[in-house]
Amino acid sequence: MAIHCAKTAGALSLERLKQPILVEYKTSASDLVTAVDKEVEKHVIQAIIKEFPDHGILGEESMFEGNPADYETLWIIDPIDGTTNFVHQQINFSVSIAVYHKGEGLVGVVYDPSRDELFYAVKGQGAYLNDRRLGLTKQVKLEEALLCTSVFWNKRAEQIGIDQIVKRLAGKVRGMRLLGSAALEISYVAAGRLDGYVSMSLNAWDFGAARIIVEEAGGVATKMNGEPLPFDQKSSVMACNPAFYEELRQFLNLEGK
Ligand code: IPD
Ligand code: CA
Ligand code: CA
Repeated sequence: MAIHCAKTAGALSLERLKQPILVEYKTSASDLVTAVDKEVEKHVIQAIIKEFPDHGILGEESMFEGNPADYETLWIIDPIDGTTNFVHQQINFSVSIAVYHKGEGLVGVVYDPSRDELFYAVKGQGAYLNDRRLGLTKQVKLEEALLCTSVFWNKRAEQIGIDQIVKRLAGKVRGMRLLGSAALEISYVAAGRLDGYVSMSLNAWDFGAARIIVEEAGGVATKMNGEPLPFDQKSSVMACNPAFYEELRQFLNLEGK
């Protein structure tokens, strides 16, 4: 069901790209939302409540009428993760859908419609990219890692000095990338295309599905200070190959002190 929803939602956003897109500013010129984000979220919500009327939904565009906190089983959805890419590049965006029961992640699906790539995982049953089972078995050293981060681009990052920490980290690892869709970036860690992802602040719908995928692939996903990730709140996020998780966590937490 989650896979079906993600695929039809992805197909709908691709279809809408054939026409001019109405773009609105949310909080600033770099925080965008389109009519398609809202339409896709509505479409996903309708499909879920038709099948599971007693489930709750936490979606970025807040199109669900109930209070997500009232439900034991909660779907966490981002209809378009990477709206800026959707508007500018028309690729590198994704649909993110997760199912949590009493706070435990059961299913995570991240779908990239422009490449027809489906990343998904069911708790305890492994992670997949289309038909391929994912497993982070390669021993990667931090020095050889390709990391991805978006932490250093805002004022708050400067205030707490994380921009400097990330700058020093960039000098230590093989390379840094920033793709613009957290759900895809964390899924790429699961697939071994990136070795790690770090963000100072993501919303629950940005990482809710992808963290299940990376964990099922054998990776580690926590807050930047090593604490467990929440399932329904904003959080910092680090997700990476287990081989250098501890070294990266220490680097992020000690470098600034
Ligand atoms: C954004 C993307 C981006 C991340 C931002 C998110 P949106 O989501 O995931 O990679 O750096 O923090 O807000 O707004 O495009 O759904
Ligand atoms: Ca998002
Ligand atoms: Ca979004």
